[in-house]
Amino acid sequence: MENYELKEIIGEKQIKEKILVLSEKINSFFQNSSFIAIGVLKGALFFMADLIPHLRNCETYDFIQAKSYEGSESTGSIKILKEPSTLLENKNVLVIEDILDTGITATAIKDYLLKKGAKNIYFCALLDKPSRRIKQIVPDFCGFVIDNYFVVGYGLDYEEKFREKRGIYIFKLKD
Ligand code: IMP
Ligand code: MG
Repeated sequence: MENYELKEIIGEKQIKEKILVLSEKINSFFQNSSFIAIGVLKGALFFMADLIPHLRNCETYDFIQAKSYEGSESTGSIKILKEPSTLLENKNVLVIEDILDTGITATAIKDYLLKKGAKNIYFCALLDKPSRRIKQIVPDFCGFVIDNYFVVGYGLDYEEKFREKRGIYIFKLKD
């Protein structure tokens, strides 16, 4: 790959600590009602795997994968590449996302899940970049709010690379 620079902004330990805080919030929010966790592939994989063992009322988990239509990022049209196979009719759904950026993906996923009959939809995002928001959506549970950087690691990629890193890094191409 081209010359690039990685700078760690959130370490592995910080992520693990934040997951404990988030899981307490999620557990106290759901109290005695159950929910289905839906992880957004591929970025949410590690976050989801670390978070779910701490959640008390998670009935089951499944996955969804979405992709922006080529060249139409600004229109916000999204294609669902992988649908959850779990029946969502009348269920509480907790969507687990790596990052909320423009909010286009999350909004499309929400519309999709509503069409599948989900009763309530909540979002848990490890990272939030509110400065880039196009669609007004606020995560119900959020790990870290970050500035407008492109980040990789802990599931997040640049051209499918760096997902396996344990922390979160700012990624920059060097000229
Ligand atoms: P949105 O639809 O613009 O909110 O983007 C959501 C998706 O874009 C995320 O699920 C990520 O896959 C990707 N994305 C947004 N920002 C970043 C980033 O800083 N690094 C890596 N992927 C990102
Ligand atoms: Mg990506």
